[in-house]
Amino acid sequence: MSTTNEDLIGRTDVNDLEAILSITNTDVDELVHAVADNADAIFTWDYEKGKRPALNKLYEKAKTSQWNGETDLPWDTEVDQEAVVMANADANAGLRDGMDLRGTGFEHWDDAQWVQMGVESQNWTLSQFLHGEQGALICTAKIVETVPWIDAKYYASTQVMDEARHVEVFAKYLDTKLSGHYPINAHLKMLLDDIVNDSRWDMTYLGMQIMVEGLALAAFGFIHQLTTEPLLKQLLRYVMSDEARHVAFGVLSLKEYYAELTQAEIKERQEFAFEAAVRMRDRFLQQEVWERMGLEPKKVLPLVMMSPQRQMFQQMLFTKIVPNCKKLGLLDAGDGWLRQRFGELGVIQFENWADTGEEYEAFALAEGEAEGQPA
Ligand SMILES: [Fe+2]
Ligand SMILES: [Fe+2]
Repeated sequence: MSTTNEDLIGRTDVNDLEAILSITNTDVDELVHAVADNADAIFTWDYEKGKRPALNKLYEKAKTSQWNGETDLPWDTEVDQEAVVMANADANAGLRDGMDLRGTGFEHWDDAQWVQMGVESQNWTLSQFLHGEQGALICTAKIVETVPWIDAKYYASTQVMDEARHVEVFAKYLDTKLSGHYPINAHLKMLLDDIVNDSRWDMTYLGMQIMVEGLALAAFGFIHQLTTEPLLKQLLRYVMSDEARHVAFGVLSLKEYYAELTQAEIKERQEFAFEAAVRMRDRFLQQEVWERMGLEPKKVLPLVMMSPQRQMFQQMLFTKIVPNCKKLGLLDAGDGWLRQRFGELGVIQFENWADTGEEYEAFALAEGEAEGQPA
């Protein structure tokens, strides 16, 4: 029996724009959102600490790597959002560069509209990071409950604190430095719901630690590099030092667990990874921004997707996910099903990039860096 795209992602063609855009968030006014969490809470009576040395090392590292979102970041930095958008555009290639905009919805845009789009895009991006961070907070609290290993429960508990801090700093940045929130994007919401809903403890890891956080680590790194705004730069630097540990936690835990699974069980993990990859790619089309700018997403997106800058960004999102999936044996298991799928998504070329099992050490904050001193 083979699973079709229709079964996994609800459409036959991965790139069917009409189908992608037909999924929108209809609950934008709800204040809380309930998701059934089907997993058992697992006690373990095996308290032997350090039975899994790599996880124990990560836990010890996490204990000494905590920072304070209120006091370690320079919140007194003045952020003129429009000036930042313009400075970023000057420093980096933008959507306008290398594109023929004649005959498109952008043709008659003046500079003010381009700046406004940059502002909206930033509000949207940071809002989605915020919602994703809350997803991570909930997922790691769930991992504390469901994972059967004491070293993993210990580690996951430190990650719960990390994620609370990430939610806190992104919310504060949005509230005090930017100019508006966006509700959660429907594709991201579907993915987070699927992850929380799944009864198998390792699926929380795969969905959150490997896929969502792998993408976040890459996206934060990209924006950290490009932004000209010093507060956001430092905020991302701090968050990334935590995120690298989180992805490592996923890689180290699943590497052990997947060794016990049957081929059929591994196939389900491959399918879940593919579904997550597609959902995350779909969300980055940021359809809500085009709408707010008065453009029809269906008309502008084919153009936007051809922009060289956009294509680079979209591929870059997978620079951590693909090597980590390879390390876990997911790319080539069975008949190389996931390798072929990542090929179709145009991201398989990253398979030999560094995986995050060890890489977290390179992201660690330097001595004194977490005491408010500049890097
Ligand atoms: Fe986070
Ligand atoms: Fe995280």
